[in-house]
Amino acid sequence: MDSANHLPDDIHRLAYHIMAPANWINDPNGLVQYKGEYHVFYQHHPDSPKWGPMHWGHVKSKDLVHWERLSIALAPSEAYDRDGCFSGSAVVDDHGVLTLIYTGNIWMKEDQSELKQYQCAATSTDGVTFVKDPANPVIAEPPFDCCGHIRDPKVWKHEDQWYMILGTREGNHGKVVLYRSKDLRSWNYIGIAAESDGTLGYMWECPDLFRLNGKDVLVFSPQGIEPQGDKYNNLHQTGYLVGNLDYQTGKFQHGGFEELDKGFDFYAAQTFHDEQGRRILIAWMDMWESYMPTQTKGWGGALTIPRLLELTPENKLLMKPVPELELLRKEHDHAQSIEVTPLQSDYLSHIKGDCLEIVAEFSLAACDASEFGIKVRCSEDYTEETVIRFDVNDSAVIFDRTRSGIGEEGIRRAFLDVSGKKSIKFHLFVDRSSVELFVNDGELAMTGRIYPNSSSNKVDIFAEGGCVQVLSWNSWKL
Ligand code: FRU
Repeated sequence: MDSANHLPDDIHRLAYHIMAPANWINDPNGLVQYKGEYHVFYQHHPDSPKWGPMHWGHVKSKDLVHWERLSIALAPSEAYDRDGCFSGSAVVDDHGVLTLIYTGNIWMKEDQSELKQYQCAATSTDGVTFVKDPANPVIAEPPFDCCGHIRDPKVWKHEDQWYMILGTREGNHGKVVLYRSKDLRSWNYIGIAAESDGTLGYMWECPDLFRLNGKDVLVFSPQGIEPQGDKYNNLHQTGYLVGNLDYQTGKFQHGGFEELDKGFDFYAAQTFHDEQGRRILIAWMDMWESYMPTQTKGWGGALTIPRLLELTPENKLLMKPVPELELLRKEHDHAQSIEVTPLQSDYLSHIKGDCLEIVAEFSLAACDASEFGIKVRCSEDYTEETVIRFDVNDSAVIFDRTRSGIGEEGIRRAFLDVSGKKSIKFHLFVDRSSVELFVNDGELAMTGRIYPNSSSNKVDIFAEGGCVQVLSWNSWKL
């Protein structure tokens, strides 16, 4: 990703995603555009490829694509954050000062079974070095019993006041609470904005609340939702509620919970509003307790590509790759009207690569197949392959990594409404150990880490149980 890649030899190091120079990374933090540049911070353990005392790693970019690595922005140092600078957000205050609001974590017992969490601030005038605020912690005690679990402040401005939402729990019910401040230092508790009705998990992490298309959207990462068929199959989820926040009572009236990305590896998503008025999301491209073979090579974790959010009139969040990613495009391949039949392969034998963008449109009108789709990272004999398929009868998109290489096996399925549609568009971003799929201009997103052999570089299209026509194929080496 940049010249400071300290682990250049691992075949699974990503080419264009945000990673740490080495060692561990989890949530994106403090996404902000400051003095025209995009800043991304992330949870980082600089001394080990495993999670540990959290620091804030830091990169910045002029275009959301090419990232420059900066020095670590926050490290545990004070009584209120001695065991970790946990997740949080960034704002530019009323005087133009870049302000990070984060959670200071303290273990109360050596076995980490009890903790205390404080909300803290740190500021910078150059966007590189940060000073912890003398007023810290800016929130010390929540007015309810959450067993110490209250974290991940997301701060934004509404009219002339600052608001903060925090993820927390009471008993086994996850919830988010709202605070208000005039100066980012002195905070008043308003109340519970939203909480689990018993079906939405025991703890809500990494909340984010923003306005989009005339509605308020709450994105958060609940822990402990039980799997239900094709839904909620990862250890934890990230999803959203759409509604309306009453800034006086703090109550968020909302509809039902919907997962944001229906793949394997997507958690702790955060968003920001950029100077072009866009709402952009980045998530951790992994999941707690997932098998990470790269840890034996000295690193673990990465962030997703930046994704543009849009809200439909039906309250569905669409997630699309930001257009800036076109800057990565190199060699282009184009084909159209390819008739794909069962039992045939090697349609695209001239295209090879481990870093690719693919946009392929499959006809639903000219289709009698029961399944069709795209294969990437295939070995010569197809014993290794990562498959994106559409199951016509079930109207489901399937991300199949059972033969993707080393790592965890698995399939994720997601229903796709194609009623009235003449085609399906798959938009894929393949990096050395990841696949991000966007279907029909952001209606469905599925993300997964894969750990194939470096020689598994073939790409193909396929049909089963009948034929399908690929209306158009465009791919770029990245
Ligand atoms: C989410 C999370 C946050 C916490 C951080 C610690 O993945 O558990 O709630 O602040 O990671 O690294």
